[in-house]
Amino acid sequence: MANVVVIGAQWGDEGKGRIIDWLGNQADLVVRFNGGHNAGHTLVIGDKTYKLALLPSGLVRGKMGIIGNGVALDLDALLAEIDKVGAQGLHVTPDNLRIADNAILILPMHRAVEQAQEARRHFKIGTTNRGIGPAYEDKAGRRAIRVGDLAEPDTLSAKLDDLLLHHNALLSGLGVATFEKAPLLAHLLALAPRILPFVEPVWQRLNTAQQAGQRILFEGAQAVMLDVDHGTYPFVTSSNTVAGSAATGCGVGPAALSRVLGVCKAYTTRVGLGPFPTELQDETGDMLRARGREFGVNTGRPRRCGWFDAALVRQSAQVAGIQALALTKLDILDGLSEVKICTGYRLNGQLLPYLPASPKAQAAAEPVYETLPGWSGSSKGVRHWDDLPPPAMAYIQRIQALVGVPVTLISTSPEREDLIVREQPFGDLTA
Ligand code: IMO
Ligand code: MG
Repeated sequence: MANVVVIGAQWGDEGKGRIIDWLGNQADLVVRFNGGHNAGHTLVIGDKTYKLALLPSGLVRGKMGIIGNGVALDLDALLAEIDKVGAQGLHVTPDNLRIADNAILILPMHRAVEQAQEARRHFKIGTTNRGIGPAYEDKAGRRAIRVGDLAEPDTLSAKLDDLLLHHNALLSGLGVATFEKAPLLAHLLALAPRILPFVEPVWQRLNTAQQAGQRILFEGAQAVMLDVDHGTYPFVTSSNTVAGSAATGCGVGPAALSRVLGVCKAYTTRVGLGPFPTELQDETGDMLRARGREFGVNTGRPRRCGWFDAALVRQSAQVAGIQALALTKLDILDGLSEVKICTGYRLNGQLLPYLPASPKAQAAAEPVYETLPGWSGSSKGVRHWDDLPPPAMAYIQRIQALVGVPVTLISTSPEREDLIVREQPFGDLTA
């Protein structure tokens, strides 16, 4: 009996949704445990494309989806997403979605504070501007409103007072408009009847599921290099994204996280600001962006593109406990005469096998590359290892040797079944 945690191993947008969608077929429950609607997970199923930000990807497969307590939840965004997928024929009801009563809410003042602060910071982050950071700050500050509070109007009212005491002081200090309590309270109370039927202590359901031998798929958002502790701080998101956060983010023990699958692109992208040693600001970078359609699902921002950074993914694998890698978008590299892999960094005349923690060092680290032959054949849609162009095989083998983790899944197009499966993440399904 095994569960699987899927996390991003780079800076996000690795194609986690695509891998989770495929794996969802083998799971009974799919759980989101971190982040919020800063995530953008695209699933292509036949002629339909689903773009999800909050809903667990497993819903599309007809599986039970859970939004865990680790998620920062914007209820308006959730309801809009439920309506959007409803129009595509996917009906989200309390029969297929459950929301943790202890998940925190994102409210309009969070976005206002985020905008006002980002405008004045030295270290601009280039956030998704969804209020994610200030909402998590409120959780640690013990003033967050939680989903379950919607059932207690008195609690809600008192908590809004506490929340506004903090945020209105901040907003007026920053010289921007403050918020009134009455409309916020009225809006939340109006949403309550639609939201509360989904709300429950999800930890109970997850514990019961485990006892019944059901399989749980934990769907990570963001990625290890955006982790608030282990990522390229301060250019990170405000939640933990490493595999361990799957346990704290929904209420299961660490033993429930039996297998950790890291997803990475066959190259690297980053959206938002911050260090990116292998970034290509040339025609190869432009080609990757155009061919890989590297524009944010959520914000439409062009993604920065560069070569695969094996030192970065090795670091991700080690801090997050990644046991196997899924490599996506291999076909985007088809036709290049040569491909490069970063094996470490040069900093002040020294070779470093990892990205150091200080912002100055991260900005100054220069990539050290190994150059491999490219391939003229096509990997697009290939489903068997032996059908890959031999230089592509060599590229993948070199990646797994440098990262120190086997590449067990390789995706060769956005289509669900265009995948080379070298090992089943849930193990032998017939055993
Ligand atoms: P998925 O799940 C890519 C980035 C933002 C910004 C930083 C902080 O689709 O991989 P935030 O709004 O979270 O405070 O922004 O983190 N970021 C992502 N980049 N994919 C994501 O999610 C991201 N979620 C946050 O661009 O640099
Ligand atoms: Mg994204």
